[in-house]
Amino acid sequence: MNILLLGSGGREHALAWKLAQSPSLTTLYAAPGNPGIAQHATLVDLDVTDHRAVVDFCLRHSIGLVVIGPEAPLVDGLADNLRVKGYPVFGPGKKAAQLEGSKGFTKDLCKRAGIPTAAYERVHSQDGAIAALADFGLPVVIKADGLAAGKGVIIAETHSQAVEAIEDMFSGAFGAAGAEVVLEEFMIGEEASFFALTDGSAILPFGSAQDHKRVGDGDTGPNTGGMGAYSPARVLTPELEAEVVEKIIRPTVETLAAEGTPYSGVLYAGLMLTEEGPKLIEYNARFGDPECQVLMMRFDGDLVDLLLAVAQGRLAEQGPVKLADRTALTVVMAANGYPGTPEKGGAIAGIDAAEAGGALVFHAGTAAKDGTLVANGGRVLNVTASGHSVNEAQAAAYRAVDAIDFPTGFCRRDIGWREVEREGR
Ligand code: AMP
Ligand code: GLY
Repeated sequence: MNILLLGSGGREHALAWKLAQSPSLTTLYAAPGNPGIAQHATLVDLDVTDHRAVVDFCLRHSIGLVVIGPEAPLVDGLADNLRVKGYPVFGPGKKAAQLEGSKGFTKDLCKRAGIPTAAYERVHSQDGAIAALADFGLPVVIKADGLAAGKGVIIAETHSQAVEAIEDMFSGAFGAAGAEVVLEEFMIGEEASFFALTDGSAILPFGSAQDHKRVGDGDTGPNTGGMGAYSPARVLTPELEAEVVEKIIRPTVETLAAEGTPYSGVLYAGLMLTEEGPKLIEYNARFGDPECQVLMMRFDGDLVDLLLAVAQGRLAEQGPVKLADRTALTVVMAANGYPGTPEKGGAIAGIDAAEAGGALVFHAGTAAKDGTLVANGGRVLNVTASGHSVNEAQAAAYRAVDAIDFPTGFCRRDIGWREVEREGR
């Protein structure tokens, strides 16, 4: 079967690596891809915002499955436009992707379905938002409703910070994403991510992970798309996972199906493990980046078969997803300047040496320039390794990091610290 994979980050490199191992695969095409993805796929020049061009490509190359990596094309309705032409797609349609595309949509769904989450109010004007602050304590969480690349969330410690954040959002700091705002109660607890595949009716858990959102060691500095992750997140015990499926995932899947907009793809639930039990922080309509990299390293199975079963509504026929017991851990190497303006063009060497010890280096933001690999984005490489414990996985990942020569890059040195502390050294 020929497959088209859309996206260009470390998540898509990890997906390409795993898809390429399937005996069912004939040719993997990727658009736009990156030099890492090119090791497993034929890169094609395709504008994913041009849905007609994507459909046309599928027709000309007999594509049997389209895997959509990032959220933007999902929220834009690409999956619907492919499905109406008969192409199986891994990823939700436009309406179900509103789970990621609109925080207010998700909060309203939680209310209808009785899903545990923070108390909230949707507000449509600056004055309305400032007035609504009276209904919340401090700190208060202020969120741009739409897609804001993980940057549209402010935790305001004081009333004046809250007012400032509201003014920023309504004056366009996040563009159209901030035209509507959600105010939320601040939840206390440890965060964990949980992944589940669904075809709109069956649900298959796909493991847990923890990310590191802040740019600096010790969780300091500004938020990023994620500086490293590991899987599993052992705080999410099997009992808690079962509770998350029954109280959060299943009601979401059932409510969307009952409302005529079934969700098909992977549901990525950002959770807060509070004293009252797990609560939903937010949903994403895709695999996490870099969480996907650690999940793929643990996944033991045929990814083509599994994603096709999701796309064709045959998930109930699949057995449980097999994930290795080992812990996988990934360290993001970013370009200096990230998450502000990253330095582009810095040379990268030593990937083979890094992989020689068993680690995998996924490309997140690289380009090939005159035969040299260079940085071409904020997050550049995802150095991924596994071990019997977090300590072991962390040590292996940093050994690989240290084999890489990337003078204009940096990474956090403490990925996995929570689990390392729990495990004890
Ligand atoms: P989100 O983009 O909704 O995942 O939010 C980004 C980050 O903000 C989350 O990973 C949490 O650390 C934090 N956050 C969001 N909503 C809340 C909340 N209601 N209470 C506490 N922290 C939150
Ligand atoms: N690592 C966070 C995300 O993919 O949204």
